Amino acid sequence: MSTLINTETPIPTKPLDGSSITFSELIERLNSQSSPPELEQIKSWLSSVEIFDHDLQPYLGFKEGNYWRHRVCRNDAVEMLVICWRPGQKTPIHDHNGSHGVVRVQQGLMWETNFAFDAGKGLCYDTGRECPTGTITGAEKPDIHQLGNPDVSGQDLITIHVYAPPLGVLKTYKVGSAKVEVYTPNDFPT
Ligand SMILES: [Fe+2]
Repeated sequence: MSTLINTETPIPTKPLDGSSITFSELIERLNSQSSPPELEQIKSWLSSVEIFDHDLQPYLGFKEGNYWRHRVCRNDAVEMLVICWRPGQKTPIHDHNGSHGVVRVQQGLMWETNFAFDAGKGLCYDTGRECPTGTITGAEKPDIHQLGNPDVSGQDLITIHVYAPPLGVLKTYKVGSAKVEVYTPNDFPT
């Protein structure tokens, strides 16, 4: 992962309208969506949800070798995941193939690196940033990025992800290459 990290001001997790919702209420709202919710709506939900340790307990689990995705809910419009990362674990460089998504850093420190695709040079580094606990980060498409728990963090990372519509096959990229491959996230790796 690149060391060119800047420190943009994270978006605080305070509710937009001063009210909060519970984790169960958030799941109910997601399950009731019949069309993909807007990015700003998802940001608002993830900013205003209060999440306690017992809420996340069913979705916590780390493994060596790769980060672990735990699905909380999914329908045709939207899905929510909890992802658990040991230090040094990171995604491939990918985009969301038409979905938009929001990440809430629940515990730990996340690095996000963004890339630009140049028809001549292929994939190029664009920006990097550090996202501490409480950061809400959302991206419209197209957005080629890599998320991870830096190996120097010295701590586990727990993140909450909402994607609309749910992620299917993702496109993956390599720096300096124009080659695009596909990748299917595996929710229950063995
Ligand atoms: Fe992503």
